[in-house]
Amino acid sequence: MRVLHVAAEVYPLVKTGGLADVAAALPPALAAQGADVRLLLPGLPAILEALESPRQVIDIGPCFGALRVRLLQALMPGTQLPVYVIDAPHLYRRGGGPYQGPDGREWPDNLQRFALLGWVAAHLASGDADPDWLPEVVHAHDWHAAMACAYLADLRPGGAASVFTVHNLAFQGLFPQPDWPLLGLGSRFMSPAGLEFHGQLSFMKAGLVYADRVTTVSPTYAAEIAGPEFGCGLDGVIRGRGGDVSGILNGIDGAVWNPAADPAIAAPYSADRLAGKSACRHALQEALGLVRDDTALLVTVVSRLSAQKGLDLVLAALPALVQAGVQFAVQGTGEPALEAAFRAAALAHPGRVAVHIGYDEARAHQLLAGADVIAVPSRFEPCGLTQLYGLRYGTLPLVRRVGGLADTVTDGLTGFSFDAATPAAFEACVRRALRRRAEPAAWRDMVQRGMGQDLSWVGPARDYLALYAAALAARAARVAPR
Ligand code: ADP
Ligand code: GLC
Repeated sequence: MRVLHVAAEVYPLVKTGGLADVAAALPPALAAQGADVRLLLPGLPAILEALESPRQVIDIGPCFGALRVRLLQALMPGTQLPVYVIDAPHLYRRGGGPYQGPDGREWPDNLQRFALLGWVAAHLASGDADPDWLPEVVHAHDWHAAMACAYLADLRPGGAASVFTVHNLAFQGLFPQPDWPLLGLGSRFMSPAGLEFHGQLSFMKAGLVYADRVTTVSPTYAAEIAGPEFGCGLDGVIRGRGGDVSGILNGIDGAVWNPAADPAIAAPYSADRLAGKSACRHALQEALGLVRDDTALLVTVVSRLSAQKGLDLVLAALPALVQAGVQFAVQGTGEPALEAAFRAAALAHPGRVAVHIGYDEARAHQLLAGADVIAVPSRFEPCGLTQLYGLRYGTLPLVRRVGGLADTVTDGLTGFSFDAATPAAFEACVRRALRRRAEPAAWRDMVQRGMGQDLSWVGPARDYLALYAAALAARAARVAPR
């Protein structure tokens, strides 16, 4: 089965969150099960620079306000995965992030930037971009790629099937309605049954409405977004898709996240050889200036610092927990107020709280390896990957029971979970972890149980392949002559 994945970021070239990890790991996992998979990416500077001898597939000419658009093809560096990259210098070759400029504001031409991504995907699927490879399924990730589903519906109703995966419903790609003509779509698309969303146009809706199948990254989040609390105003649309919406849990890339062979950490270890984990703990305490206290419960946070992640709960409970013998090692970037609050916490608790404001992959591995617990107290969490990395590294996840966190952590067996989004509930949960750590055998049982879990992409990839088959069958049934 030929499958085209469409995403705006991919590890290790461009990454703002877990989406990049998924875009890097899922296509090869599908290929390992026999699928013929390619990836389509925007030509952001870090992506273009990494390509080795790309060849031009087609010169598309001017479109979406770009003077010149070309489609390139190469292999994803260091892999056998073919990637298409859209070189549109006017839209993509600039500093800053994939979605925002250096000032943190959304790029003003994001409509054109991500409409182009979806448009090229649809043209690949209709055979007029690369006559040599025609995908049967287009799998679009998040709002950035969602327009692929609308353009596919517009171009060739009988063509490729589309699958849309919601990684985070809170980011929707909303644009002013007057910009509508820039999309070049028929007027039937600009209605409440199409892209229109409360007087704006919504790329997220393009995926939710026009994809043959909609998935999200955990079964619990799939159920949550069908209701008003987590539906971000789109729960009605999601309920309207009924059984077309499902949840498939993310896996993790065992080649990147493996404590037995991780070049970033102080010593290797595995479930039955845990000595290396103590070495990692000591190295981490030393590197971060934390007191070398073997009785302390060392809690790490590796996260975007955004309201989603519930880190205000950590900040509120932190002084009491430090008193109780907890150490914190935090790494993140994001909202300036949260960054400042964590910096202040580190200053207030020298030797007990270490904070690194910044993004650093190698340090993320060191934190995961050296800590006892990774805290993920999110207000909502579509899947969450860091708790999975925690399981793999014998660092027990301590999570709020929502979304993918609820689906991947079993309280008392593989980690700790709590319900109320309150500092008191978080604090009580950390105190439970603290008490459990005082029972070394019980702790080791939990660590080994988590480390023994299969978190690979093998199962999820199998589920996606079955879903692709269902999407193709649904599409074929729809276009078959009656
Ligand atoms: P989200 O995508 O919502 O941010 P996930 O848990 O799915 O949450 O994925 C986050 C990814 O980003 C993980 O790979 C995590 O290790 C990484 N990450 C987040 N913040 C940092 C940071 N400051 N430094 C290094 N890696 C980070
Ligand atoms: C999003 C979600 C996160 C998920 C990731 C990868 O960024 O916030 O929960 O793990 O996508 O699917």
